[in-house]
Amino acid sequence: MTGQKVLLLGAGGQVGTELRRSFSGAPELLACGRQQADLSRPEKLRDLVREFRPDVILNAAAYTAVDRAESEPDLAMMVNAAAPGVLAEEAARLGALLVHYSTDYVFDGTKSGPWLESDATGPLNVYGRSKLAGEEAIQRVGGRYFIFRTSWVYGPHGSNFLLTMLRLGRERPQLRIVDDQTGAPTSSIEISRATLAALKRASDAPSGIYHMSCGGWTSWYGFACAIFRQAGTSAELLPIPSEQYPTPARRPRNSVLSNEKLRAVFGVELAGWEEALQEVFPRL
Ligand SMILES: NC(=O)c1ccc[n+]([C@@H]2O[C@H](COP(=O)([O-])OP(=O)(O)OC[C@H]3O[C@@H](n4cnc5c(N)ncnc54)[C@H](OP(=O)(O)O)[C@@H]3O)[C@@H](O)[C@H]2O)c1
Repeated sequence: MTGQKVLLLGAGGQVGTELRRSFSGAPELLACGRQQADLSRPEKLRDLVREFRPDVILNAAAYTAVDRAESEPDLAMMVNAAAPGVLAEEAARLGALLVHYSTDYVFDGTKSGPWLESDATGPLNVYGRSKLAGEEAIQRVGGRYFIFRTSWVYGPHGSNFLLTMLRLGRERPQLRIVDDQTGAPTSSIEISRATLAALKRASDAPSGIYHMSCGGWTSWYGFACAIFRQAGTSAELLPIPSEQYPTPARRPRNSVLSNEKLRAVFGVELAGWEEALQEVFPRL
């Protein structure tokens, strides 16, 4: 990013941490965590944006606790829907570009192939509904925006499946992992790399929703097997159906995203999920 003022929100999260690294070359980067920019108080965001006057807003902040959201729907809606709407309004006032992230959980999981941006949404849980409402709020404003829908995010920092598996693999001899949910594990490193590449290559691309996930797909069980192989963990993994691992939030069976539109419009492609996993290990 050259000649641009960039405002990053959610700078302490998985994707936010990597975006901070990727966009460190921006002439001015204001990276805000929850202390500086609390998305549960959307109206307060206006002053921040008006004062800094960014050219680009990167919103990596979100309420991401999928199960907890079932009992905190109002907070999830405030952070994931109302706040992005306010950011979109302020970006539009300035003529700035809003880059926002959304999720594969906007879909109901019933399709047999990869989901397209044009497919009908149908979230199964509060988190998915709140993220969909965020997409709609941004689209309603009608300014310049890219919404990058991603999936199964993990990386070297934060709370994620990779780090949980590595910990449990040390603590337990045997783990039972869900094998009937299919998706594409996507590293925070690949997301930030692809975001930077997309903004460099086609900042004049049409506003819209773009799927942005690593290539290929697997199940949580398959992901766990790859993690243990890579880490040399000897704990045994047993595949189980979702019914044997009940959670407060329902999850889609198939949430594999097609990345064709991202490739066609921006010429950007993320690594395959196994390759991306290998890249994360040296950063642990
Ligand atoms: N994680 C996934 O598996 C996944 C899958 C698909 C899509 N996505 C989307 O990808 C984007 C990035 O997610 P991620 O994986 O990087 O999530 P993350 O690691 O949970 O980071 C989210 C960040 O948002 C911050 N945040 C939460 N509530 C906030 C509030 N009220 N005000 C300000 N900041 C707040 C968190 O701060 P604290 O650390 O202080 O809580 C955290 O830094 C999100 O839009 C998410 O919906 C994620």
